[in-house]
Amino acid sequence: MKVLVVGSGGREHAIVRALRRSPRRPEVLCTPGNAGIAEDAQCFDVVAEDLDALVALAADQDAGLTVVGPEAPLAAGLVDALEAEGRRAFGPRAEAARLEGSKAFAKEIMSAAGVPTAAHVVFESYEQAEAQMDCASYPAVLKADGLAAGKGVIIAPDPRTAKQALRAFFLDSRFGEAGERVILEEHLEGEELSLLALCDGEIVVPMASAQDYKRIHDGDEGPNTGGMGSYSPVPGIGPDEAAELVVQVHEPVVEELARRGIEYRGVLYAGLMRTAAGPKVLEFNCRFGDPETQAVLPRLRSDLLGALEATLRPGGLRDAPLAWSEGSAVTVVMASRGYPESHSAGDAIAGLGEGSDAEVTHAGTARRDGAIVTAGGRVLNVTGLGPTVGQARERAYRAVEQISFDGAQYRRDIAARVGVRVPG
Ligand code: AMP
Ligand code: GLY
Repeated sequence: MKVLVVGSGGREHAIVRALRRSPRRPEVLCTPGNAGIAEDAQCFDVVAEDLDALVALAADQDAGLTVVGPEAPLAAGLVDALEAEGRRAFGPRAEAARLEGSKAFAKEIMSAAGVPTAAHVVFESYEQAEAQMDCASYPAVLKADGLAAGKGVIIAPDPRTAKQALRAFFLDSRFGEAGERVILEEHLEGEELSLLALCDGEIVVPMASAQDYKRIHDGDEGPNTGGMGSYSPVPGIGPDEAAELVVQVHEPVVEELARRGIEYRGVLYAGLMRTAAGPKVLEFNCRFGDPETQAVLPRLRSDLLGALEATLRPGGLRDAPLAWSEGSAVTVVMASRGYPESHSAGDAIAGLGEGSDAEVTHAGTARRDGAIVTAGGRVLNVTGLGPTVGQARERAYRAVEQISFDGAQYRRDIAARVGVRVPG
């Protein structure tokens, strides 16, 4: 069977690799992919935004399953379009993907389902919001309602910064339509946790826990990025704790959607804050996390293809339990100069394929004159595996040090404090 993966990042490369480990030996295709993915899968040049061309490609290749990586094509209805042509696709349909596409919708579902989350208000206009900023409590969290590529969240220390953010959202349309509604949210303190779960519309199966490092610099300093590293599992969040969290968070959401006639199938990713008052949801994503997937999937011992297919029918996941390796995985992201504000491109990458025991997945890379060069903000993901988080971390960093390109930047503290984290 042919499986077509849609996307071009490290997440998609990790998915491609995991599919290739399936005992059913599927033929793995990817579009548009990148220079590294092209070594593991046949790549095409259809981009993830071109829905008609993606549907045509799936038909042309007779893909038995299309796995959609990024959120934008899910929100735009790629799964609906593929199904309308009788094709099988992994991921939620557009109406279920609104859980990520509209933070106001996600809040409404959470409050109806009784899922713990930060207190919030929704503003529809600049004037309405501005009037509230002098009496809000600080730091204040302001979020664009719609998709903003991880950049639509501002943590404002004072009313002046909050008003500046509101101007960017409402008046300067920095995020286009996504910023036409803005959420003001209570600021939560604690450790973050990403818990992804597979859903078949009825059953929810947790994946291994992970943590993402969002800030660009060591010590969680500097601006937010798409993610500079990750590790799995998170101490204190083993299979039993993950199962408990899924009962508190994911299952009520899937049930509430079902009550409204919306079937949730695919991955449901809960971004959680472990606060002193228990876990609270920061956000939902309707797809695999990046870079969590690069640390989570290398630990999967059971068949990913079978599990993804099992989400296609209600109750299917009952027969597809997930098995995980006992050890740890640590992923370090190597980014290019200027990231996250901008990025450099076209710099030759040296040291790939030097005999290391880490798994390197590609994000922003391209092939030029036979050489692999940088082609994006996040360039490579280097994942070390080991029996302990310390050993996994050592393997990852040893491999990172062998790789070089002009302007390379990476955090040196990924998973450094894991042993000393206090479970909350
Ligand atoms: P989101 O896209 O909603 O996950 O937000 C991006 C990042 O902003 C999160 O991973 C947190 O680090 C931070 N964040 C979002 N909401 C809150 C909140 N209510 N309190 C504290 N930090 C938050
Ligand atoms: N790791 C954050 C995200 O995938 O949105």
